[in-house]
Amino acid sequence: MATGSATAKLILCGEHAVVYGEPAISVPFTQAVIQTEVIQTEKEIKFSSAFYTGGLKNMPDFLEGIKQMVVSILTKLGDAPVLIRVLSEVPIGRGLGSSAAVSTSIARALYAYFGKTISDDELLELVNRSEKIAHGNPSGVDAVTVVTGKPIWFEKNKTLEPLHFKKKIYLVVADTGIPSETRSAVSDVGRLLKENPNKYRPLITELGNISREIRTQLETNPDLKLIGAEMNKAQNLLEQLTVSDTSLEKLIRVALENGALGAKLTGGGRGGCMVSLVANASQAEKVAEALQITGAAEAWIFTIGEGNHESNSDSSHEYSTH
Ligand code: MEV
Repeated sequence: MATGSATAKLILCGEHAVVYGEPAISVPFTQAVIQTEVIQTEKEIKFSSAFYTGGLKNMPDFLEGIKQMVVSILTKLGDAPVLIRVLSEVPIGRGLGSSAAVSTSIARALYAYFGKTISDDELLELVNRSEKIAHGNPSGVDAVTVVTGKPIWFEKNKTLEPLHFKKKIYLVVADTGIPSETRSAVSDVGRLLKENPNKYRPLITELGNISREIRTQLETNPDLKLIGAEMNKAQNLLEQLTVSDTSLEKLIRVALENGALGAKLTGGGRGGCMVSLVANASQAEKVAEALQITGAAEAWIFTIGEGNHESNSDSSHEYSTH
C-alpha cells in the first residue's frame, strides 16, 4: 500500500476576480487534509470515497477530471489493478479547493505506489488539467495553493509570490452545508462581464484593489478593523457579481452580529464556505459558537501568520465535528 496527502485551501480575498487577472491571497487550509491510499487489487481499478465508490469506468460526471488524471497516470506508470481509497473529512465542493486537494493526494499516492517521484511542476500540470475538466475556466489558484502548500499571492500567468504574514490573525471559517456551485458561478460572472463590461469590470478591478490593500496590511502591522472593512467590501462586490446566496449571507450576518470585524464568502460561492476575521481567540470562540448554533454544518477557528509557515495545524483547530 502507498499513501499520498494534500491540504485544502482557503481564499482570503480575490476569488472570481482572479479569473480575470486580478490578484488573490490564498492559504493552505490545514483543517481539511485529504489522504489517499492505493492498494493492490485483483482485477479492475476501483475507487472508494465518501462521494463515490465503484469502478473507475463508472465514475460520475463530476469526477471526470479525476478519472482522466488517474487514467493518464496509470498509462504512464503501469496499468496495474489498484483500489484508490480517498479518506477525507471534508465533502467535495465547499469552496475549500477540495477537488484540487483530492486530485493532488491521488496523484501523490499513485506515484508513491509505483515508487516514482513527481515534481511540483508536473503535479501542478496534472492537477490543473483535472481542475479544468471539473470547473471549466479555473484561474489555477486552487491547484497552486494545494500543490505548494504555502500562503500565496496569485496572479494568473505571473510568477507565484509566497507570502509571509507579519502577525498572527484569527479567522473563523464556516460551511453552509450546501455544495458550492463554482462552475456555474464562474461562468455567470463571465457572462455578466461580456454582456455589461461597463457595469461589471469595475467590480473586478475593485476586488483586485482589495487584495492589494489586504496584502499590504498583512505584511506590515495589520490594522484588523481595516482588513475587516475590506472583507465586507469584497462581500458586497461578490454579491453584485451574483455569486453569493442567502445561506452564505445568513452566516456572514451572524458572524458580524457576534463581533467579527469582517466576513465574506470564500471560493466559488453560491453555497460552500464563508470566512470571517476576528480580533482574538475568545472572539473566535464566540463567533464559531454562534455560527454553529445558527446551523453552520461546520465551523473552524483558523489562524494565519506565525512568521514562517503560516496556517500550521498546531495553531488552528476544528471547532466541532459531526
Ligand atoms: C475557486 O476556489 C476560486 C474562483 O476564483 C475560481 C478560480 O479561480 O478558478 C471562484
